[in-house]
Amino acid sequence: MGIATRSQHEPGPRSTLSGMMPRQFTTVCTTVLLSLTIGDLALAQASKRHEQAVQQKPFGTQDGRPVTLYTLTNANGVEVDTMNYGGIILSIRVPDRKGQFADVVLGHEKLEGYVPNPPYIGAVVGRYANRIANGTFTLDGKTYTLPKNDGPNTLHGGTDKTFNKVVWDGEPLKGKAGVTYTYLSKDGDDGFPGNLKLRVTYTLTNSNELVIDYEATTDKATVLNLSQHSYFNLAGEGTSDILNHELMLNADRFTPVDKNLIPTGELRAVKGTPMDFTTATKIGARIDDNYEQLVLGHGYDHNWVINGKGDGLTLAARMYEPTSGRVLEVSTTQPGVQFYTGNFLDGTVTGKQGHVYKRRYGFCLETQHFPDSPNHPDFPSTILKPGETFKSTTVFKFSIK
Ligand code: GLA
Repeated sequence: MGIATRSQHEPGPRSTLSGMMPRQFTTVCTTVLLSLTIGDLALAQASKRHEQAVQQKPFGTQDGRPVTLYTLTNANGVEVDTMNYGGIILSIRVPDRKGQFADVVLGHEKLEGYVPNPPYIGAVVGRYANRIANGTFTLDGKTYTLPKNDGPNTLHGGTDKTFNKVVWDGEPLKGKAGVTYTYLSKDGDDGFPGNLKLRVTYTLTNSNELVIDYEATTDKATVLNLSQHSYFNLAGEGTSDILNHELMLNADRFTPVDKNLIPTGELRAVKGTPMDFTTATKIGARIDDNYEQLVLGHGYDHNWVINGKGDGLTLAARMYEPTSGRVLEVSTTQPGVQFYTGNFLDGTVTGKQGHVYKRRYGFCLETQHFPDSPNHPDFPSTILKPGETFKSTTVFKFSIK
């Protein structure tokens, strides 16, 4: 839009301008013109950024296959880096209450940092996220044996072709800041039955939400539990532990565990225990209490039963970091959320910018079905049959307070 049109048709500015000396008038016009031009440029820039919402670049090779890094950017300048190796989220850059951006997830700068990735940093986990007791389950009368990689248990799908360490196919979304990963998990991989076709889509919205949509179909009955294993630190990754964060969990019950972190089958009320986060409480306030479940978990490493689970998205958790003002809200269609306080991080992993990830330097909010559901017929079912489509959505929404 030209300055002449604007000053001719807007009475206010014209009367102010008309009372000025010619030189002043020219200066004002030039200034206004310049600032409008800069404004237009900024707008053009923003819409350009919006149009180029997904950028991609080669990020190395794994198992002889190319790995691509996708950068999702929204209109607010929020950025998410993700790659098709393990569907891993490498970074999430969001502002604090002063508008300063920081990367709020643990991770590595290069692909090599994630091979191997014993803490499952940033990855999509499956075929069965969390634990299956004694690496075995029975389905339709047949017993399946899985690799054990967590004492007597199978954790996060086993050892071989787990979803966190295979190369998926990647396809950027059109007209959106998003990417879809697809992968075929073959019949018998890590002992699980059925050829399982998977689809995981990350979409970054202009409301600063990272939406994760999961979809799966199978050609034989199988069990399935999918989750996202990002470790967050809302103060900025690698800077401190997470004990100062304040957590609200929308859950009146949790699933207590035995010494192998396998649910006992009980759904226990949180009321009166250090597992009660129904009102926002500092993570560090009770984490080292002499409460049997915290001793067994070495801190928080439990599944909470999300209140009021219907079919739709339900708020599961709200995390607030007081120094930065950053807030993360997690909503999901899943029935449970594993709140894990990085108790097994022990300083042996060095991540971005040489940051050493010490104990409790990150927290995970892994939305999922309950651990060991295949061996607990009373828990919500994790069975997927041919002809059915598994669908679930989890939203990580970032804001400030
Ligand atoms: C999950 C488990 C934890 C731990 C991490 C990975 O969150 O519940 O016990 O195994 O994964 O280190």
